[in-house]
Amino acid sequence: MTDGSAPFSSHEQPATPHRRRPRYAGRNPRRFEDKYKEHDPVRHAATIAKVLASGKTPAGTHRPIMVAEILEALAPRPGERAADCTLGYGGHAREILPRLQPGGRLLGLDVDPIELPKTEARLRALGFSPDVFTACRSNFAGLPKVIASAGLSGVDIVLADLGVSSMQIDDPARGFSVKHCGPLDMRMNPQRGQPASALLERIGAADLARLLLDNADEPRAVTLAPLLAGRAFRTTAELAQAVRSALPWLGDDEADLTVRRVFQALRIAVNDEFSALDAFLRGLPSCLNPGGRVAVLTFHSGEDRRVKKAFAGGLREGVYAAIAGDVVRPSPEERIANPRSAPAKLRWARRAD
Ligand SMILES: C[S@@+](CC[C@H](N)C(=O)[O-])C[C@H]1O[C@@H](n2cnc3c(N)ncnc32)[C@H](O)[C@@H]1O
Repeated sequence: MTDGSAPFSSHEQPATPHRRRPRYAGRNPRRFEDKYKEHDPVRHAATIAKVLASGKTPAGTHRPIMVAEILEALAPRPGERAADCTLGYGGHAREILPRLQPGGRLLGLDVDPIELPKTEARLRALGFSPDVFTACRSNFAGLPKVIASAGLSGVDIVLADLGVSSMQIDDPARGFSVKHCGPLDMRMNPQRGQPASALLERIGAADLARLLLDNADEPRAVTLAPLLAGRAFRTTAELAQAVRSALPWLGDDEADLTVRRVFQALRIAVNDEFSALDAFLRGLPSCLNPGGRVAVLTFHSGEDRRVKKAFAGGLREGVYAAIAGDVVRPSPEERIANPRSAPAKLRWARRAD
């Protein structure tokens, strides 16, 4: 949502049980876990409106990006079947779902076992019952299997909004935050794979340099890699500090950007994001019904290159009847209202009949 309104209006929110107010120093809570008003948009709509108006995302929520552009590309119609491959907070799903009614259905996939049940509960509270909405804890690399196990031969609409949600980035306990100290984890599914701390401890300098270049186009990869590889960092703050100390001549802004690129590169590796995206793009044609539409939102060049190439190849082979000529970008208004939308790039394709 980019219009400054609350992610969910108060009457639509499921009730939350009463909890004792957390203690914090000063007038305003600064830590994610203390922002009890933002975590409870039902009772604190005025606070949510203030946070949104300042261009920030209320703690524990996510603002869906390029909603109008995605709806235009996907053109959901009553009776159609859809797969939202990156359900997140359910922001896009809750816009698509009503447009599929009557008779339509949406499968919502996500790998995150912490956020998925919360989003399922929110969507149920909005009235989306199991016959129209199914929450699937699955990697989108396995989309063909998810569709088959839902008893469908294909879907008319596929959406993928890549990367991590604001709930994941902002919660220091998930280990993605460059701003707040937390365990150096970065797993979207903390029940699988290894945290970023383990990856850094076992990787060699040459491999780390390649990873920083491939996953984040990090220009100082060769300088940074030997100073980070093989080291045991316990927290996000320790890693951020090590990156800054490795490049003491950088100004604050460039140092911040470098820390962000290092975190991005590690996150992509920890979650095997490029392999999942490649598998998704390969399987996509078999998932889409004739005339079906797909929209993919990407947030950095490594993702966009893959989507662009897959769609162009599909168009040449006649798998897709049409693809986005140019990448679609967020409007200037959306970038101001929600700065997290700024790097987004939207591509779409239409399956041949
Ligand atoms: C940018 S958020 C999506 C936000 C969502 N569109 C909304 O409006 O709330 C990306 C979500 O995709 C999930 N995700 C990332 N990679 C995934 C994958 N390979 N398979 C399934 N889910 C994935 C993340 O856990 C996260 O919840």
